[in-house]
Amino acid sequence: MSDNKAKLDINGTVHDYPVLKGSVGPDVVDIRKLYGQTGAFTFDPGYKSTASCESGLTYIDGEEGVLLHRGYPIGQLAENSSFMEVSYLLLNGELPQQQELDDFSYTITRHTMLHDQLRQFYQGFRRDAHPMAIMCGVVGALSAFYHDSTDISDPEHRKISSHRLIAKMPTIAAWAYKYSVGQPFLQPQNDLSYTGNFLRMTFGVPAEEYELHPAVEQAMDRIFILHADHEQNASTSTVRLAGSSGANPFACVAAGIACLWGPAHGGANEAALNMLKEIGTPDRIPHYIERAKDKNDPFRLMGFGHRVYKNYDPRAAVMQKTVREVFDALNVKDPVFETALALEEIALNDDYFREKKLFPNVDFYSGIILSAIGFPTTMFTALFALARTVGWVAQWNEMISDPGQVIGRPRQLYTGPTERDYLSMDKR
Ligand code: ACO
Repeated sequence: MSDNKAKLDINGTVHDYPVLKGSVGPDVVDIRKLYGQTGAFTFDPGYKSTASCESGLTYIDGEEGVLLHRGYPIGQLAENSSFMEVSYLLLNGELPQQQELDDFSYTITRHTMLHDQLRQFYQGFRRDAHPMAIMCGVVGALSAFYHDSTDISDPEHRKISSHRLIAKMPTIAAWAYKYSVGQPFLQPQNDLSYTGNFLRMTFGVPAEEYELHPAVEQAMDRIFILHADHEQNASTSTVRLAGSSGANPFACVAAGIACLWGPAHGGANEAALNMLKEIGTPDRIPHYIERAKDKNDPFRLMGFGHRVYKNYDPRAAVMQKTVREVFDALNVKDPVFETALALEEIALNDDYFREKKLFPNVDFYSGIILSAIGFPTTMFTALFALARTVGWVAQWNEMISDPGQVIGRPRQLYTGPTERDYLSMDKR
């Protein structure tokens, strides 16, 4: 907080508004009293200049390419931590002691099973249903199964539902995949890690023992860490907005999944990989660069640009390194990766991309790794949803725990007709 004031002159009258200071990052002009004092609203449709909440979870400095979870840089977490530890950190604010981490992992592991009746939900989907369609439906349906954890005013209920969501998401996502390929669902196995369990439920079959590849398990875990939270992005804001009405967390997370599905958000890695395959070989890159620069062509370089990062997305750097590790471990050579590297190089040296500060984002390389591991493109966003669930529930918990929390209810700049009388059919 500070004594600084912002002055706003509306029709000749000057109003003072407090300027709030976070622990780091831009100052925030507190305009909560603006409407009451002046009758005016602010107008910021894409929220480009709006801080929608106060939060202590995740910090991004888009100009510098910095991403911190509870203060810890994403690169350090990706290098040294595990998804379980990052989940604990996001939910509880501090890195765990060994016993705390063991207890947390044990609890999550013991919540991974789905109620057996939920299996029948899957049968209701067409077998070619997109996994995200299944995820939206099944996660929303959890509200009907776990009544004992939907009293959001009870911190214990909130904790249990958060654990359930984090724990059940790998089972839900793996079964969405199994359903699409017509293979039997595998039940979770408690002696495996969170990520190992997910890989086995996805790629294992009952007829034989699934062999976990340590490099793949580690890469997958790292991908989960990279997607765990990302401040007030569109899907997180959706979860918060849905939650602000008092809706239960399963319904709120289903809303987040729906938002994440869009190609401008979580759907971008699928779109990026499809684009790289369409480009095919490095000699065709200039043609696509020209298309991306052409105002009359709707084509954009998918996996490039970000609302907040106006510098290299720190997650993209880790992702690029992880591609190499997975390729080396699996002895894979994929021309798509060569095309991606060449495209990055050409775009980063192109004035259009430099001037607009368009850099590769996390989605540029993630599709290449996921594809090498064996996931079809339709599963990419489902994996993102799985990992982001921890951020969604941590943000939702933070919001609900705030005693001053109110329903999110934006206003508008109305440009429709002014009042007019209803006309009967014969007079129109
Ligand atoms: N290719 C070509 N031009 C681009 C691209 C791109 N990928 N991204 C932005 N631009 C251009 C726009 O045409 C615009 O140009 P203009 O100022 O001449 O009109 C300018 O850069 C700014 O773009 P906006 O769309 O206004 O920026 P915004 O912050 O609203 O959009 C977004 C960010 C949606 C991510 C955008 O960069 C994009 O569509 N990228 C491709 C999709 C993608 O990769 N999304 C993943 C985001 S990361 C995530 O969700 C995990």
